Amino acid sequence: MVLSREQFGDDFTWGVAHASYQVEGAWNEDGKGESIWDTFTRRRGKIRDRSDGTVACDFYHRYSEDTRLVADLGFGAQRFSISWPRVLPEGTGRVNQKGLDFYRRVVDECLAADVEPWVTLYHWDLPEVLQQRGGWANRDVVGWFGEYVDVVAAALADRVEHWMVFNEPCSFLLGGYLSGVHAPGVRSLRKFLGATHHTNLSQAAGAAALRARSSDLQVGTTHIITPMVPSGTSERHLRAAASIDAFANRVYIEPNLGLGYPVDDAPLLRGVDRWVRPGDDSAIRVDWDFVGVQYYQRLPVHAVPIPLLRGVPWPRRDHRSYDITAMGWEVQPEGLYDALAKVHAYDPDLRLFVTENGVAVPDRIEDGQVHDPRRIDFYRRHLEQVLRAQSDGIGVDGYFCWSLMDNFEWAEGYVPRFGLVRVDFDTQQRTVKDSGRWFEQLLTANPTAR
Ligand code: FCB
Repeated sequence: MVLSREQFGDDFTWGVAHASYQVEGAWNEDGKGESIWDTFTRRRGKIRDRSDGTVACDFYHRYSEDTRLVADLGFGAQRFSISWPRVLPEGTGRVNQKGLDFYRRVVDECLAADVEPWVTLYHWDLPEVLQQRGGWANRDVVGWFGEYVDVVAAALADRVEHWMVFNEPCSFLLGGYLSGVHAPGVRSLRKFLGATHHTNLSQAAGAAALRARSSDLQVGTTHIITPMVPSGTSERHLRAAASIDAFANRVYIEPNLGLGYPVDDAPLLRGVDRWVRPGDDSAIRVDWDFVGVQYYQRLPVHAVPIPLLRGVPWPRRDHRSYDITAMGWEVQPEGLYDALAKVHAYDPDLRLFVTENGVAVPDRIEDGQVHDPRRIDFYRRHLEQVLRAQSDGIGVDGYFCWSLMDNFEWAEGYVPRFGLVRVDFDTQQRTVKDSGRWFEQLLTANPTAR
């Protein structure tokens, strides 16, 4: 199918996404405090190429040219996140004005370039000082987070309309508190459940802080949705898929919608009870203006229990029949449709945006060009699924590519490259890849001649 911008509707938002720790660098400049990723990356064996985000893409200094590039490629929105320790170096209390000023400059640059700023409040870089006090496993975090959101909203709510409270709670909770592969590297089912409940409460505290600043804001959050596909039709496989779906998707979505924890499908989640206090059922509820759906892969589930989860099955990839990305993920565009349909089913009136979707492929620079046909094919096929969702009545109002440029991919370091723009991490030179040009062609009437 040949895609055209018009098929998606006049009001459809076309954007790119990135996140503070992955692109900013300037890890200790202008009064910024340490984040849990600053400390985690120093631990041996945690990052595949032993790298870190101290410089990353140097977005802290290059935000102007990067934002202009976003506009030149035809995108109308840039989704970026705020680094909590840049704004509140001690986690609470003293505000670092220079940190806030940086984000005001980024926002102003966006507005000047006709690029709408979309702000994520937490994309995984908690202040280290708060981790020392237990991080997300300490219930006090709900108050700390509310205070932080209020400080940011006070500075930016006059010029930012779209806000996302969290980026993918699933990822930093499962990765940070259960498997330990992400910061802060904790491996504890008990703490994972506590951190999950406190994050769900913090969704509500963050949303309330935003709404208290202005009733004009669009308040949302983002979730990674990983559709779980049973490997067979037997009861055993169906139960396995339902249980991992509860663990990996539903537990971060349903409490905020007033549906409680999905304990029937994943009895292990009952352990969350010890963290729940009277009144939490109502305090946790949020009336979202929109939800950001982030999709990377769909997972086949085999009924193989893993010990840490005492009997809960875990997905295992089936690499036989699919194109595999540099992350080892299977390319399955229909999974994006399934992910959108899953969230839509909770509330058909909820506005949805695809706030992340993209692919890492091992691209190379040749004669100043990066030919990445696999990435173009990936985007084309996933965008077709967005059209399919729209034509089935699922309200999808925008699509953000992950990512504008190659960046620090957490535990994988700089090995996987997700960008529409290549970054040479020695020189910080940016080179628009063919996929970036492909979007430019789709989105603008006058693509730059190659
Ligand atoms: C998502 C994260 C994002 C990036 C992509 C590849 O889960 O939100 O920061 O790492 O995966």
